[in-house]
Amino acid sequence: MYEKQYTPSLHQYTMGKILTSRRLKIVCTVTLLIIVLCGASLYSNVYIDQFTTTTTGKTIIPTTSHLNGINLKTYSASADLHTLRDQLTYTFPYHSEQAIPKIIWQTWKTGPADSSFPTNFRNTQKKWTQRAQDQGFQYSLITDDVAGSLLENLYAETPLVLQAYNLLPTVILKADFFRYLILFARGGIYSDMDTVPLKSLNEWGSVTGSKMNQLVMDHRQSFIPYKNIDRDQLSATRAAQQPGLVIGIEADPDRDDWQEWYARRIQFCQWTMQAKPGHPLLRELILNITATTLQSVAGSASASKNGVQLLDPSNLKDYNVNYRWLRGQDPKYDHNQLKTKKNVDGTDIMNWTGPGIFTDIVFEYFSNLIQSNRNILLLNPDLTKQTSEIDASSSAVVSNKSIKRFYQKINEDLQTSAKLPWEFFAFIESPTLVDDVMVLPITAFSPGVGQMEARGTDDPMALVEHLFSGTWKESADSNAKQSNSNGGIPPVPA
Ligand SMILES: *[C@@H]1O[C@H](CO)[C@@H](O)[C@H](O)[C@H]1NC(C)=O
Ligand SMILES: *[C@@H]1O[C@H](CO)[C@@H](O)[C@H](O)[C@H]1NC(C)=O
Ligand SMILES: *[C@@H]1O[C@H](CO)[C@@H](O)[C@H](O)[C@H]1NC(C)=O
Repeated sequence: MYEKQYTPSLHQYTMGKILTSRRLKIVCTVTLLIIVLCGASLYSNVYIDQFTTTTTGKTIIPTTSHLNGINLKTYSASADLHTLRDQLTYTFPYHSEQAIPKIIWQTWKTGPADSSFPTNFRNTQKKWTQRAQDQGFQYSLITDDVAGSLLENLYAETPLVLQAYNLLPTVILKADFFRYLILFARGGIYSDMDTVPLKSLNEWGSVTGSKMNQLVMDHRQSFIPYKNIDRDQLSATRAAQQPGLVIGIEADPDRDDWQEWYARRIQFCQWTMQAKPGHPLLRELILNITATTLQSVAGSASASKNGVQLLDPSNLKDYNVNYRWLRGQDPKYDHNQLKTKKNVDGTDIMNWTGPGIFTDIVFEYFSNLIQSNRNILLLNPDLTKQTSEIDASSSAVVSNKSIKRFYQKINEDLQTSAKLPWEFFAFIESPTLVDDVMVLPITAFSPGVGQMEARGTDDPMALVEHLFSGTWKESADSNAKQSNSNGGIPPVPA
């Protein structure tokens, strides 16, 4: 019953506005919210009691940094559903053979029927709804007043995730977390409001089985020969499937001062993503954000509950955003300071819910796959291209921005440390695959930015244009009275 009411489509939203007076609508929303909240909290208590009685000394919310032999690809939930990883795996099973659901998700504070809905979003939103209509996709704009109750519904069986969502102190952190949660639970395409779809959605290489098929078949002789992969078996299974997760490159700044502009040398974007429900990479991301949030906002009170160990006591620093990297080493920084609305800055957002942590989890997931499995498909057409195939006059060669520069490093990392380095995605011009994750070149979701080898919006690879209307970083930094620039677009070098 809730399922229906809390899955608002644009259509329902508009109808609601027409049919009910504002006051009636508020009363209804509040009443339903109370029902949902009571239901969920009742349920979560029962649930927590249930798993506290089966305690075996295992940490309930494990850190994603210490995997201790876990194979993230084939992980299956233990019968007692003791850990949050178990609960998520069990509640949202991953069916890699299924198609990517044809749903588009967008989020904003209000809906287009509200006068506060920004004018420029009316245009971008119209383009998405039009595409959806033309191509048989369902379209959902999730407004702030329903996001929470939609999650209460979807994640009722993992109350710790809900608790973390509710604890996140700023709207931006919540908006980041929401996109991962909705794609993990329901799948589809998520795209920010300031984006415009350029190509027909059914033409995305990831949507048309035939394009994926073609990519795999065209390059079946050039799968990266790693751990004696079985080319025939891999091309047969992969060509028959759509990728499970599709992500794009946000930044690939080949310049010495890249750290002044970006959080990671290769950074993946999360303003547009496409996924099948239950993808294990998203599960790890959700686990990491839930874990971090409980400790960084609620503090040590969250480390155990009724004598049950929630967080891993030997790696408590993993759970505290104040201990990440440089900040962790800064003795002047108050690491025990709990995160509030007032002290969250741009780098916190990057490393806690944003592209920074997203990128880290992607690389950790990839490395775990190749360490734990023998037959992982690694496909990078640019890397395996014969030198003779590279047109001598091509811009890549002239500007020295060719992945060939990193060939040796990639090879060494794979062979000696079973690690997939960032260099694997440097300057890519074609879609690449790591198992069932498709990584698209920068042109896919950032065409026309005029740098980092991105091509124009009319390029065949350009799928979505990002209009960069957000100034969230500046306001977050001024909020915390601190300025640190990684996250922006650098000026085009002269
Ligand atoms: C989350 O991921 C980051 C980046 O890999 C890592 O440093 C941190 O330890 C992880 N934390 C938890 C609690 O999983
Ligand atoms: C965020 O992560 C990056 C790279 O991992 C690191 O250089 C930076 O210092 C981190 N920021 C904070 C505030 O911890
Ligand atoms: C390309 O760049 C790398 C690293 O900056 C450098 O070592 C190499 O010599 C350059 N090659 C050419 C042909 O310019």
